[in-house]
Amino acid sequence: MSSKVDDLIRFNRKKWNDKNLSMYQGSDQNLFAWNFKELDPDYRKVIDRMHASHPLKICDLGTCSGEQAIEMAKLGHDVTGTDVSEVALEMARRNLLAEENAVVFFAHDDVLDSRFADESFDLITDRGCFHSMHAFISDDRYIASIRRLLKPGGLFFVKGMSQDEERFRSVDVIDGKEYQSPYHFREKELDEIFGADLEFIDSWKSFFYSSVVDPPAIAEAALFRKP
Ligand SMILES: C[S@@+](CC[C@H](N)C(=O)[O-])C[C@H]1O[C@@H](n2cnc3c(N)ncnc32)[C@H](O)[C@@H]1O
Repeated sequence: MSSKVDDLIRFNRKKWNDKNLSMYQGSDQNLFAWNFKELDPDYRKVIDRMHASHPLKICDLGTCSGEQAIEMAKLGHDVTGTDVSEVALEMARRNLLAEENAVVFFAHDDVLDSRFADESFDLITDRGCFHSMHAFISDDRYIASIRRLLKPGGLFFVKGMSQDEERFRSVDVIDGKEYQSPYHFREKELDEIFGADLEFIDSWKSFFYSSVVDPPAIAEAALFRKP
Protein backbone atom coordinates (compact mmCIF):
# COMPACT_ATOMS: atom_id res chain seq x y z
CA MET A 1 0.00 0.00 0.00
CA SER A 2 1.33 3.42 -0.85
CA SER A 3 1.86 6.09 1.78
CA LYS A 4 -0.07 9.34 1.95
CA VAL A 5 2.94 11.29 0.67
CA ASP A 6 3.28 9.00 -2.36
CA ASP A 7 -0.39 9.65 -3.14
CA LEU A 8 0.21 13.42 -2.95
CA ILE A 9 3.27 13.18 -5.19
CA ARG A 10 1.19 11.26 -7.75
CA PHE A 11 -1.64 13.80 -7.45
CA ASN A 12 0.83 16.62 -8.15
CA ARG A 13 2.34 14.90 -11.22
CA LYS A 14 -1.08 14.20 -12.71
CA LYS A 15 -2.31 17.72 -11.97
CA TRP A 16 0.57 19.29 -13.92
CA ASN A 17 0.42 16.92 -16.84
CA ASP A 18 -3.34 17.51 -17.12
CA LYS A 19 -2.92 21.29 -16.88
CA ASN A 20 -0.36 21.24 -19.70
CA LEU A 21 -2.45 18.86 -21.80
CA SER A 22 -5.53 21.03 -21.57
CA MET A 23 -3.54 24.18 -22.40
CA TYR A 24 -1.88 22.70 -25.49
CA GLN A 25 -5.15 21.22 -26.74
CA GLY A 26 -6.41 24.79 -27.26
CA SER A 27 -3.16 26.45 -28.38
CA ASP A 28 0.43 25.65 -29.28
CA GLN A 29 1.62 28.51 -27.03
CA ASN A 30 2.43 28.43 -23.31
CA LEU A 31 -0.32 30.67 -21.93
CA PHE A 32 0.49 30.28 -18.22
CA ALA A 33 0.56 33.71 -16.57
CA TRP A 34 4.23 33.41 -15.55
CA ASN A 35 5.56 32.39 -18.97
CA PHE A 36 8.35 34.76 -19.99
CA LYS A 37 10.30 34.43 -23.20
CA GLU A 38 13.26 36.55 -22.07
CA LEU A 39 15.70 35.82 -19.27
CA ASP A 40 14.03 36.65 -15.94
CA PRO A 41 15.98 39.66 -14.53
CA ASP A 42 16.15 37.88 -11.16
CA TYR A 43 17.89 34.90 -12.78
CA ARG A 44 20.40 37.27 -14.35
CA LYS A 45 20.95 39.02 -11.00
CA VAL A 46 21.63 35.69 -9.25
CA ILE A 47 23.98 34.42 -11.96
CA ASP A 48 25.87 37.74 -12.05
CA ARG A 49 26.26 37.54 -8.30
CA MET A 50 28.04 34.20 -8.62
CA HIS A 51 30.94 35.77 -10.59
CA ALA A 52 31.52 32.41 -12.25
CA SER A 53 34.82 31.94 -14.04
CA HIS A 54 33.56 28.69 -15.61
CA PRO A 55 30.16 27.54 -16.92
CA LEU A 56 27.84 26.85 -14.01
CA LYS A 57 25.94 23.58 -13.66
CA ILE A 58 22.38 24.83 -13.29
CA CYS A 59 19.13 22.99 -12.66
CA ASP A 60 15.96 24.88 -13.63
CA LEU A 61 13.42 23.07 -11.52
CA GLY A 62 9.88 22.87 -12.89
CA THR A 63 11.18 24.25 -16.16
CA CYS A 64 7.83 23.79 -17.98
CA SER A 65 8.33 24.81 -21.63
CA GLY A 66 11.97 25.59 -20.89
CA GLU A 67 12.31 29.30 -21.77
CA GLN A 68 14.36 30.18 -18.68
CA ALA A 69 16.59 27.10 -19.03
CA ILE A 70 17.26 27.98 -22.68
CA GLU A 71 18.05 31.63 -21.84
CA MET A 72 20.55 30.54 -19.16
CA ALA A 73 22.16 28.09 -21.59
CA LYS A 74 22.56 30.94 -24.09
CA LEU A 75 24.78 32.64 -21.47
CA GLY A 76 27.10 29.63 -21.78
CA HIS A 77 26.01 27.63 -18.73
CA ASP A 78 25.49 23.88 -18.52
CA VAL A 79 21.74 23.74 -17.90
CA THR A 80 19.38 20.91 -17.02
CA GLY A 81 15.66 21.65 -17.08
CA THR A 82 13.52 19.24 -15.07
CA ASP A 83 9.77 18.79 -14.89
CA VAL A 84 7.16 16.20 -13.93
CA SER A 85 5.09 16.90 -17.02
CA GLU A 86 6.10 15.04 -20.19
CA VAL A 87 3.77 17.32 -22.13
CA ALA A 88 5.64 20.41 -20.88
CA LEU A 89 9.00 18.81 -21.65
CA GLU A 90 7.91 18.01 -25.21
CA MET A 91 7.20 21.71 -25.67
CA ALA A 92 10.58 22.59 -24.08
CA ARG A 93 12.40 20.29 -26.52
CA ARG A 94 10.48 21.83 -29.38
CA ASN A 95 11.43 25.35 -28.22
CA LEU A 96 15.07 24.26 -28.00
CA LEU A 97 15.05 23.13 -31.64
CA ALA A 98 14.43 26.74 -32.65
CA GLU A 99 17.63 27.85 -30.89
CA GLU A 100 20.97 27.55 -32.64
CA ASN A 101 23.20 28.45 -29.72
CA ALA A 102 21.74 26.60 -26.77
CA VAL A 103 22.23 23.12 -25.38
CA VAL A 104 19.90 22.07 -22.58
CA PHE A 105 19.28 18.65 -21.11
CA PHE A 106 15.53 18.39 -20.46
CA ALA A 107 14.76 15.58 -18.02
CA HIS A 108 11.60 14.06 -16.62
CA ASP A 109 12.32 14.25 -12.91
CA ASP A 110 10.34 14.92 -9.75
CA VAL A 111 12.13 17.13 -7.23
CA LEU A 112 10.34 15.21 -4.50
CA ASP A 113 11.94 11.96 -5.66
CA SER A 114 14.85 13.09 -7.84
CA ARG A 115 17.09 10.66 -9.74
CA PHE A 116 20.00 13.10 -10.01
CA ALA A 117 23.23 12.37 -8.13
CA ASP A 118 24.21 14.13 -4.91
CA GLU A 119 25.96 17.49 -5.38
CA SER A 120 25.12 17.77 -9.08
CA PHE A 121 24.51 21.53 -9.34
CA ASP A 122 26.11 24.92 -8.60
CA LEU A 123 22.73 26.64 -8.85
CA ILE A 124 19.12 25.47 -8.60
CA THR A 125 16.38 27.85 -9.74
CA ASP A 126 12.68 27.50 -8.97
CA ARG A 127 10.29 29.95 -10.55
CA GLY A 128 6.80 28.86 -9.52
CA CYS A 129 7.27 25.16 -8.77
CA PHE A 130 7.56 25.22 -4.96
CA HIS A 131 4.59 27.59 -4.65
CA SER A 132 2.39 25.07 -6.43
CA MET A 133 3.00 22.29 -3.86
CA HIS A 134 3.80 24.07 -0.59
CA ALA A 135 0.18 24.04 0.62
CA PHE A 136 -0.34 20.29 0.48
CA ILE A 137 3.07 18.56 0.54
CA SER A 138 5.38 18.86 3.53
CA ASP A 139 8.35 21.15 2.76
CA ASP A 140 10.83 18.64 4.30
CA ARG A 141 11.03 16.47 1.23
CA TYR A 142 11.57 19.37 -1.14
CA ILE A 143 14.23 20.96 1.10
CA ALA A 144 16.08 17.64 1.55
CA SER A 145 16.25 17.30 -2.23
CA ILE A 146 17.60 20.82 -2.75
CA ARG A 147 20.27 20.22 -0.10
CA ARG A 148 21.24 16.89 -1.61
CA LEU A 149 21.41 18.11 -5.22
CA LEU A 150 23.43 21.28 -4.54
CA LYS A 151 27.21 21.26 -4.39
CA PRO A 152 28.62 22.67 -1.14
CA GLY A 153 28.53 26.45 -1.56
CA GLY A 154 25.91 26.12 -4.32
CA LEU A 155 23.01 28.57 -4.53
CA PHE A 156 19.25 28.06 -4.50
CA PHE A 157 16.94 30.74 -5.89
CA VAL A 158 13.19 30.47 -5.34
CA LYS A 159 10.36 32.69 -6.49
CA GLY A 160 6.75 32.30 -5.35
CA MET A 161 3.51 34.24 -5.64
CA SER A 162 3.20 37.12 -3.16
CA GLN A 163 0.39 37.67 -0.70
CA ASP A 164 0.22 41.19 -2.19
CA GLU A 165 -1.03 39.65 -5.46
CA GLU A 166 -4.84 39.54 -5.54
CA ARG A 167 -5.13 37.56 -8.79
CA PHE A 168 -4.22 33.91 -9.45
CA ARG A 169 -5.99 32.55 -6.38
CA SER A 170 -7.05 29.00 -6.99
CA VAL A 171 -7.35 25.81 -4.95
CA ASP A 172 -6.45 22.14 -5.22
CA VAL A 173 -9.10 19.85 -3.78
CA ILE A 174 -7.66 16.73 -2.16
CA ASP A 175 -9.90 14.34 -0.22
CA GLY A 176 -12.55 17.07 -0.07
CA LYS A 177 -10.15 19.61 1.49
CA GLU A 178 -9.11 22.83 -0.28
CA TYR A 179 -5.44 23.89 -0.54
CA GLN A 180 -4.36 27.27 -1.94
CA SER A 181 -2.50 26.88 -5.24
CA PRO A 182 -0.40 28.70 -6.08
CA TYR A 183 0.38 29.51 -2.47
CA HIS A 184 0.75 33.27 -1.85
CA PHE A 185 3.70 33.93 0.47
CA ARG A 186 4.03 36.70 3.04
CA GLU A 187 7.08 38.95 2.77
CA LYS A 188 10.03 37.04 4.32
CA GLU A 189 8.02 33.79 4.55
CA LEU A 190 10.41 32.04 2.14
CA ASP A 191 13.33 33.16 4.35
CA GLU A 192 11.67 31.37 7.28
CA ILE A 193 10.83 28.21 5.32
CA PHE A 194 14.32 27.62 3.93
CA GLY A 195 16.46 29.55 6.42
CA ALA A 196 16.78 26.71 8.93
CA ASP A 197 18.37 24.31 6.41
CA LEU A 198 20.15 26.66 4.02
CA GLU A 199 22.15 29.81 4.63
CA PHE A 200 20.00 32.85 3.87
CA ILE A 201 21.62 35.36 1.49
CA ASP A 202 18.94 37.81 0.38
CA SER A 203 15.25 38.23 -0.39
CA TRP A 204 13.30 40.83 -2.30
CA LYS A 205 9.90 41.72 -3.71
CA SER A 206 9.69 40.90 -7.41
CA PHE A 207 7.41 39.90 -10.27
CA PHE A 208 6.66 36.84 -12.33
CA TYR A 209 7.87 38.75 -15.39
CA SER A 210 5.53 37.66 -18.13
CA SER A 211 4.96 37.61 -21.87
CA VAL A 212 1.32 36.69 -21.19
CA VAL A 213 -0.20 38.98 -18.51
CA ASP A 214 0.19 42.69 -17.90
CA PRO A 215 0.81 43.76 -15.19
CA PRO A 216 2.88 40.74 -14.16
CA ALA A 217 2.06 38.90 -10.94
CA ILE A 218 3.74 40.18 -7.76
CA ALA A 219 6.25 37.69 -6.37
CA GLU A 220 8.46 37.05 -3.35
CA ALA A 221 12.00 35.98 -4.23
CA ALA A 222 14.73 34.54 -2.00
CA LEU A 223 18.30 33.33 -2.38
CA PHE A 224 20.14 30.79 -0.22
CA ARG A 225 23.48 28.99 -0.10
CA LYS A 226 24.19 25.39 0.85
CA PRO A 227 26.79 25.68 3.62
C1 LIG B 1 4.25 27.52 -12.33
S1 LIG B 1 4.96 26.42 -13.45
C2 LIG B 1 6.50 27.29 -13.67
C3 LIG B 1 7.10 27.12 -14.99
C4 LIG B 1 8.50 27.68 -15.25
N1 LIG B 1 9.38 27.53 -14.11
C5 LIG B 1 8.47 29.12 -15.69
O1 LIG B 1 9.14 29.94 -15.09
O2 LIG B 1 7.77 29.40 -16.68
C6 LIG B 1 5.40 25.06 -12.41
C7 LIG B 1 6.10 23.94 -13.12
O3 LIG B 1 6.60 23.05 -12.12
C8 LIG B 1 6.41 21.72 -12.54
N2 LIG B 1 6.39 20.85 -11.34
C9 LIG B 1 5.39 20.74 -10.44
N3 LIG B 1 5.74 19.86 -9.47
C10 LIG B 1 6.99 19.43 -9.77
C11 LIG B 1 7.87 18.51 -9.14
N4 LIG B 1 7.50 17.86 -8.03
N5 LIG B 1 9.09 18.30 -9.69
C12 LIG B 1 9.44 18.94 -10.85
N6 LIG B 1 8.62 19.81 -11.49
C13 LIG B 1 7.41 20.06 -10.96
C14 LIG B 1 5.07 21.76 -13.28
O4 LIG B 1 4.89 20.67 -14.15
C15 LIG B 1 5.17 23.11 -14.00
O5 LIG B 1 5.73 22.98 -15.28
